[in-house]
Amino acid sequence: MDLKQVVAEELEAARRRSLELLDPLSEEVQMRQHSRLMSPLVWDLAHIGNFEELWLLREVAGLPPTSPKFDDMYNAFEHPRWKRPELPLLKPREARAYLADVRGRALDVLERIELDPSDRLLGGGFVYTMVVQHEHQHDETMLSTLQLMSGDPLRPPRPPAPEGSAVQSPEVSVQGGPFVMGTDSDPLAYDNERPAHVVDLPPFRIDATPVCNADYAQFIAAGGYDDQRWWHPEGWAWRRDKDIRHPAFWSEGTGSWSVRRFGRHLDLDPREPVQHVSWYEADAYARWAGKRLPTEAEWEKAASWEPSGRKRRYPWGDSAPTAALANLGERHYGPAPVGAYAPGASPWGCRQMVGDVWEWTSSDFRPYPGFRSFPYEEYSEAFFGPDYKVLRGGSWATHPSAIRTTFRNWDYPVRRQIFAGFRCARDA
Ligand code: AVJ
Ligand code: FE
Repeated sequence: MDLKQVVAEELEAARRRSLELLDPLSEEVQMRQHSRLMSPLVWDLAHIGNFEELWLLREVAGLPPTSPKFDDMYNAFEHPRWKRPELPLLKPREARAYLADVRGRALDVLERIELDPSDRLLGGGFVYTMVVQHEHQHDETMLSTLQLMSGDPLRPPRPPAPEGSAVQSPEVSVQGGPFVMGTDSDPLAYDNERPAHVVDLPPFRIDATPVCNADYAQFIAAGGYDDQRWWHPEGWAWRRDKDIRHPAFWSEGTGSWSVRRFGRHLDLDPREPVQHVSWYEADAYARWAGKRLPTEAEWEKAASWEPSGRKRRYPWGDSAPTAALANLGERHYGPAPVGAYAPGASPWGCRQMVGDVWEWTSSDFRPYPGFRSFPYEEYSEAFFGPDYKVLRGGSWATHPSAIRTTFRNWDYPVRRQIFAGFRCARDA
């Protein structure tokens, strides 16, 4: 299949996914703001279309704007999320018509232009894959909104997640020495994943699986939320101010926990990775356990580096994710138990490094040495600095085409609405 056909199919797949998420919802639910942390769903939807218009119609083909008002209204930097419900947003039907119009014209442009390999934007279809990834990233954001909303967002039925199986040892050792962090060659890589550079790490140990609910519940039962020793000073202040006593969406029964998941109350599954914890909670748990969070360099080495000195795009190798290798793309609408996906293990024996839950690392979101913003500063550069912590590996809600071992995500250390958990590490 030629590149243009691949690109067109990926655009279509992303759109099917977006609409499958939203179409079952009433117009009112799509327009309402479900949390101050999130946009109304219909903002995300029209923003997806506006981003596609900016890149695939205006930038690539020089076409005039559909409406300068849309460019303002759907510019994430102009309007903070909590204020977006006040905007004169397109209604769900209007937003769909806008998206369909943009898409139709984008496919016409794609047919007639040459994907000149020497053009940074067009070569390898980069700008198209960027637009595809962007849509999938907003789909995951919309899944976070659906998790926050009250009531059942009517998810389509899904097969159950595979079982976990025992790991040989709860921790693995990773040899010290240099490895290559980031990439120069991945055609899908964002600017923040570049350039590839050598990082020399001392030997370390890292958990073979993410921390599970049972282990996290022990931290709670041991009084972990009441013991300042385990907490970062800012984390302690946050947990006191907000009276945080457990992960988001948990509630305590008599001697047991239940969780709210997409509007349903379920018994907490002790074997699932803990999710909806902030960086501060992950950091405190790790200290309580006598460990620490991995740095993002440690995470990437454990996920991608073969002891023989070769880098893998995914923990298991370079082949595309399958249902046997990783839990991605809301295939199960939740994480699989820890120890699942043995065939998807990394060279060091770490499981579930891609998929299931995003994993908090100890690292601030900073540019790699030699970083150059491309193709726009607002994707990464605007967020570099000490305010954001890096998450790695993607979650069950991440689309396979928007994750790889070099992919970097980031959020504030207080945030819990994302599908994030963690695994621990320690010095060897
Ligand atoms: C990489 C998930 C932090 O949602 O803020 C979407 C992705 N950037 N539109 C975000 C993104 C622009 C970004 N994260
Ligand atoms: Fe966006």
